[in-house]
Amino acid sequence: MCGIVGYIGNKRATSFLVDGLSKLEYRGYDSAGIAVEKDGKIEVVKHKGRLLNLSNDLEKNPVEGTIGIGHTRWATHGEPSDANSHPHRSSKGDITVVHNGIIENYLGLRKWLKEEGYEFLSQTDTEVIPNLIDFYYEGDLLKAVVKATEKLEGSYALGVICGDDPDKIVAVRKDSPLIIGLGKDETFIASDIPAVISYTRDIYLLEDNEFVLITREGAKVLNSDGENIDKEIYKVTWTAEAAEKGGFDSFMMKEIHEQPKAIRDTLTGKISADKKVVFEDFKLTKEQLEGIDKVYIVACGTAYHAGLIGKVAIEKFAKIPVDVDIASEFRYREPLVTNKTLVITVSQSGETADTLAVLRDSKKAGAKTLAITNVVGSTISREAEHVIYTMAGPEIAVASTKAYTTQVVVMNLIGMYFGQLKGTLTKEAEKELEDALLLIPEKIEELLANKEQIEEVAKILAKEKDVFFLGRGVDFALALEGSLKLKEITYIHSEAYAGGELKHGPIALIEKGTKVIALLTQTRLKEKMISNIVEVKARGAETIGLAYEGDEIDESVFNNIIRIPRILNMVAPVVAAVALQLLAYYTAKEKNFDIDKPRNLAKSVTVE
Ligand code: G6P
Repeated sequence: MCGIVGYIGNKRATSFLVDGLSKLEYRGYDSAGIAVEKDGKIEVVKHKGRLLNLSNDLEKNPVEGTIGIGHTRWATHGEPSDANSHPHRSSKGDITVVHNGIIENYLGLRKWLKEEGYEFLSQTDTEVIPNLIDFYYEGDLLKAVVKATEKLEGSYALGVICGDDPDKIVAVRKDSPLIIGLGKDETFIASDIPAVISYTRDIYLLEDNEFVLITREGAKVLNSDGENIDKEIYKVTWTAEAAEKGGFDSFMMKEIHEQPKAIRDTLTGKISADKKVVFEDFKLTKEQLEGIDKVYIVACGTAYHAGLIGKVAIEKFAKIPVDVDIASEFRYREPLVTNKTLVITVSQSGETADTLAVLRDSKKAGAKTLAITNVVGSTISREAEHVIYTMAGPEIAVASTKAYTTQVVVMNLIGMYFGQLKGTLTKEAEKELEDALLLIPEKIEELLANKEQIEEVAKILAKEKDVFFLGRGVDFALALEGSLKLKEITYIHSEAYAGGELKHGPIALIEKGTKVIALLTQTRLKEKMISNIVEVKARGAETIGLAYEGDEIDESVFNNIIRIPRILNMVAPVVAAVALQLLAYYTAKEKNFDIDKPRNLAKSVTVE
């Protein structure tokens, strides 16, 4: 999400810091800042908004000094603002920190540090870090950082400077990326290689819990006991452009691979030790929930498809009726919204015009409103009464991948939350669902390790003009999403149908060689789906199945089968969606299309 840089050398630090941050802009951000140390004094400059705000200020008011750290922030805790921007400084001393990641136990640490006399100026989770380091500081910055990290739960990449122990940067990572660039008489830290590639191609790729002490003599990598780690230098051979994509050929492929982490981050802090779902900003009592007589889920595009799964989850786990609608339709009919209605708007960007209009109309009609969005500080997140954030990190490719799968995870969590409040979810069902949700990242990793099978099927699809997706239950919602993904980036005409609808029209389109993709993750409905497939096969269709590994399927019914790891049916669409994203991706690649920027499409549709 955020971007970190740092510099020690002979040149003015701000030149690299601003340039390095500009190379990390692709990661998405809403504010930027730097801290530079000179003669034991640290100066911090930070601004909400574009990096230009920061660089214009630095041009007018240059900051001298050859040691510094910098940061582009993508808000997760607290809205985008000057105060919430990094670097953050300890309230007692001058320990100054940039951080990328999420500190899960920040509320507890904050409370304790307040009792110890520390003050907090921001709403961020990060601000506990400089204060915690200050608490342990006894003249040696590295030792204090090591001690502080022992108390941190969650993910972090850190760059730390201290006026009292000057001329050094201490860096460390855990579950967030950080690299060290080894230049001639200068050393860099950065979240990602593009920031340093025009300065050096010699890199240390840090592993979790490796601490780095960077002085004018260079960088030493140490373990938490202060022992040297013999690090191999990695020579970058990629171009700067490839480096931005983390070595993948497109942002879409990079984002497909980020899904295990995005889902782990989204689940973080949302299930308590006693298996209860907790949302920071959405808490209802049983009575309040029982006072809601209708739930609408409203969204556009991919987010609408996530909503369709939300309906199944809420109705299944909590027995509350749910309607799902497309925002541009909902706003122009006369929906029955009253003060007993809960309107859930789902939007990756939090800026989609139609979805925002629905939120505003619903508020006027007195409804309770909940937004599910990926962008902290977005208009929808600010205007909704309650917000649940997906923690997917910035999504750059137009075709949504990680935003969708994290939305589906949140949909299941909402269903579980309502079910727990109402008492409609048995202990067994609760445990089964929790276990399955936590297992999703691992199952996606397994699928990603086995993606060649999908590449093979894509070669077949690339020659097609029309493709059909069929599914039942949540697989129907998944079929709609798989079909949309294929349309968006391959320009192949594709349709998704509920399996049972086949006989009511679409079967007329089936002729010799028509490709039909059947989704088979819903065990209860599998035989019904197979019957549908037998029907299209009898009319000449070539069929592709998507089924669990080890699931017994009459292979004569299918020309090809994509296998996905087995997981609880209700959350299987999350894993299966990744397979369909890969299918669209490989098909587009086979056709040599611009995968990240498909024709005619925009990432965020802020006009009607
Ligand atoms: C555009 C994007 C889609 C997205 C839809 C809704 O069409 O290309 O990927 O699903 O808008 O966007 P939102 O930001 O509200 O989720």
